[in-house]
Amino acid sequence: MTTSSRYYLFLIFLLVFASVKAKNIPIRQSGLIGHSIAEFIPEGFDASLVPSLMLQKEPVIKKALPAGWHIVPEFSFNEGKASAVVHLQGDISLYGGGEVTGPLLRNGQTIKLWNTDNGAYGTDGGKRLYQTHPWVLGVRKDGTAFGILFDSYWKAGLKTDSKAIAFNTEGALFRVFVIDRKSPQEVVKGLAELTGTIEMPPRWSLGYQQCRFSYASEQQVKEIADTFREKQIPCDAIWMDIDYMEGFRVFTFNKTNFPNPKRLNNYLHAKGFHSVFMIDPGVKADSTYAVYRSGSAKDIWVKDVGGREYHGKVWPGDCAFPDFTMPDCRDWWAGLYKQFMATGVDGVWNDMNEPAVNDEALPKDQRLGTMPYTNQHRGGGSLPAGPHLLYHNAYGRLMVQATRQGVMAANPGKRPFILTRANLLGGQRFAATWTGDNLADERFMKVSVPMCITLGLSGQPFSGPDIGGFLGNTSPDLWAKWLGFGVFLPFARGHACAGTNNKEPWAFGGAVEETSRIAISRRYRLLPLFYTLFYNAHKTGLPVMQPSFFADPKDLSLRDEEQTFLLGSNLLVVPSFAKEPKLPAGKWEKISLVDGEQSDPYQAKLLLKSGAIIPAGNIIQNTGEKSLETLTLFVNPDSRGNATGELYWDSGEGWEFNKGNFSRLKFRAKKSGSKTILHVVAHEGSYPINEQVAHLKVIVLKDGKEYSETGSLKQGVLVQM
Ligand code: GLC
Repeated sequence: MTTSSRYYLFLIFLLVFASVKAKNIPIRQSGLIGHSIAEFIPEGFDASLVPSLMLQKEPVIKKALPAGWHIVPEFSFNEGKASAVVHLQGDISLYGGGEVTGPLLRNGQTIKLWNTDNGAYGTDGGKRLYQTHPWVLGVRKDGTAFGILFDSYWKAGLKTDSKAIAFNTEGALFRVFVIDRKSPQEVVKGLAELTGTIEMPPRWSLGYQQCRFSYASEQQVKEIADTFREKQIPCDAIWMDIDYMEGFRVFTFNKTNFPNPKRLNNYLHAKGFHSVFMIDPGVKADSTYAVYRSGSAKDIWVKDVGGREYHGKVWPGDCAFPDFTMPDCRDWWAGLYKQFMATGVDGVWNDMNEPAVNDEALPKDQRLGTMPYTNQHRGGGSLPAGPHLLYHNAYGRLMVQATRQGVMAANPGKRPFILTRANLLGGQRFAATWTGDNLADERFMKVSVPMCITLGLSGQPFSGPDIGGFLGNTSPDLWAKWLGFGVFLPFARGHACAGTNNKEPWAFGGAVEETSRIAISRRYRLLPLFYTLFYNAHKTGLPVMQPSFFADPKDLSLRDEEQTFLLGSNLLVVPSFAKEPKLPAGKWEKISLVDGEQSDPYQAKLLLKSGAIIPAGNIIQNTGEKSLETLTLFVNPDSRGNATGELYWDSGEGWEFNKGNFSRLKFRAKKSGSKTILHVVAHEGSYPINEQVAHLKVIVLKDGKEYSETGSLKQGVLVQM
């Protein structure tokens, strides 16, 4: 290289450096908005260009940042695109990002935030998925932790490496929130302070659920329901996929195969089932169809760049799409649920709401899989008008807000259950989620564990995969392995794509049917624990399913453990596929819930933490039966013979619990000579739990042995060891 070319290179370097420098954006305002939660607002931030839909309420800066606060984002703005970088100091384990594949430990990962219908999405990461969660949790070596929330849902990429977390959007400047607390649990609670928690779900939604694309007729649905009861395999809900509709027109019922939905729902209810029906956003553009006509009369459809009604293809052919950014549209959509729910529908399944559009007729390089980025959303209320590029990642979130509004208005005395495929950080306030169109494949089975843990660390505690795998045929072995731990995921539903083999628990032969019965019965025995954990998630934002490293955030060997998981903080689930999992230190004792489980190689191992007590109920066929007739408490005393635990219970439905009609019991076990004494040490709420619990059975675990005794809630129990 000559001297002059070196000189020119240097000049170019200087110019580039100067222009990059010039685009760095200073911070206009920063400060604390809550306990160890800081807000950073860049110069030039305009809320009307980046309306917030993730936060539960508008934050207020109350105090200056404390001296020594060192996590400060750096903002930049290049060619209309805003970014923020957070530099990392020291070795940090990174997590979060919401719905992602790949490893639990997110160091060195890149995700693309652009909600996409991406069936069989692979398991190594990198592919776009259905949801957007611009959130990273960092855990330091000493177990202290921080979280970064990038408050923008413009199309974006989120990249983590050993030095920095970088969030690059295609939109305007946005705010960043940083939480810095003493543990990852406290940071996740901080995320809930910003984005809210789930509402208390109806108890039936914690039972096992059975789905297929599609059970084709009322008759077939009844047969499926009857078979569960005949075979004594517990189940709480049967799901109706798109074929129940008339020509895939939402809010209609097929006249031949589902002529009388009320009759079907009554039948299911009489047998202790609930029903969930699918509703997609695309409304068939058909001038003889009442829903399309009423939407058109209200002028609520998304418009194209020229201001014409946009049409895109989904299941029914050409569809118009509700513009959920408009309050009038949300009200109209909510109103559609009144008649629909009046048929006795219990739950609603919102799908295809990325929104997915079938544009396969276009040349490959023009396909978007969704509507054009230039489509126009009209907004209203606190939302400005904006292009689809701005609102795409919020479309599913706004849809489930409207759905929830409608379901609540239709049945104000009941707790809504809504499942959604697309969503946004904070969207747990409106709907639970499942991880979309996975594949009947061992890799998908294994990745379903870190996927659901990560959703929990990203604010969404109520998630699960299609157990068994949606696409492709499922082998008996895969089904048994998957269900063996899938029953301990927060949302437990078997599902199957059209054209694949039958995937009900009895479809794989006698031995796997027995494995399925045992596995599902184990979930029902743990219903009191699940219910307690969901209540805690509702109150605090702590996930139901937690990573094993939560047991000891200082133990670096647990940081990448992704085969096992915790239910709450006390019960470790070790799936049968787990090879040499890293277990948290301490004496964890194995618990046994259902006869036959010990000799069944497919059942997950359940280990109870030292010093913990967890509640279990009876094996019941659905959650409407008496779970607590015999309340069993599993106790693993610590080295001093002490243990504590809790139970939350209420009627399982409705809102009376908000007025005190619940029961929250705290238990304590203590050693006394060769005995363990268990007592209820605190009792909150007015729900008559004593009427439910006929017997209290205490099982004390020690060195692999069980010691048990029966007594009553009032008097407590003395167990001779
Ligand atoms: C989508 C959903 C899937 C559903 C199917 C038919 O692929 O992800 O769960 O069964 O549509 O509605």
